[in-house]
Amino acid sequence: MSDADSSERMKTGISGLDEMLRGGYFKGTANVVSGASGTGKTIFGTQFLLEGAKNGENVMCIITSEESKSIVREMKTSFGWELEEYVKQGKLTFVDITDPSLRLQKSVEIAPSELIKSFKKLVESKIEEIQPTRIFIDSIEALFLAIESNYKLRTLIDDVFNVFRKHNITSIITVGAMYGLDEMVEYGADSVIKLGRITTGNNLQRSIYIMKMRGSGTINEVRVLSISDNGMSVLAQSPYLE
Ligand SMILES: Nc1ncnc2c1ncn2[C@@H]1O[C@H](COP(=O)(O)OP(=O)(O)O)[C@@H](O)[C@H]1O
Ligand SMILES: [Mg+2]
Repeated sequence: MSDADSSERMKTGISGLDEMLRGGYFKGTANVVSGASGTGKTIFGTQFLLEGAKNGENVMCIITSEESKSIVREMKTSFGWELEEYVKQGKLTFVDITDPSLRLQKSVEIAPSELIKSFKKLVESKIEEIQPTRIFIDSIEALFLAIESNYKLRTLIDDVFNVFRKHNITSIITVGAMYGLDEMVEYGADSVIKLGRITTGNNLQRSIYIMKMRGSGTINEVRVLSISDNGMSVLAQSPYLE
């Protein structure tokens, strides 16, 4: 398969990154974005969804913790992005699994694997209703932290990723650096992008690199990740001062 075949690819909408990915993500793949708190994961996923919504695609954002609920407000104050407009137009749908009416919130009565089973069921029914091309889950740890066996964790992560793959949805799944869960999630993904920070002397810079991308060549460099009032972009330079 040629790298130049753009019909196979889905643009992230993050300028500079699509070039690093040789045109974007492969359609229908599960893509992990991992990094510590404040490295830009939520902005990354939101910009990816907006790229689709602006092109007339239906997109879905799955919110998994109380923490990620403030996304609409934060994206407005950070960049002036009016997510609510896309919601009104029916282009962007939020699925909030912390909503008590969905009975999906973590509780002592529900076994963790039962929780994931109901999560899959809920998400599949939403997918069938909305027919999204893109999904962003911010983030995955709330769903998986309670799973104690690594073997089980691997299987359940695959199960969730396969729901998206089966429907030919290009998904972004964020994960923080927590208890080795990030490694397990990265293992099952079709691609992994790492966000971070690098200090050189007094200089603090955001960084980005592609850790893996199944079936594709990529640019194997650590680059500078920029976040400004215009959103996120990747610069052609390396964060390391020569
Ligand atoms: N307009 C902006 N200009 C520059 N940086 C910004 C702007 N808006 C938000 N940020 C930065 O983005 C970071 C938050 O990114 P976020 O995607 O929420 O991180 P994560 O989800 O990984 O915790 C914050 O550190 C904040 O300083
Ligand atoms: Mg976040």
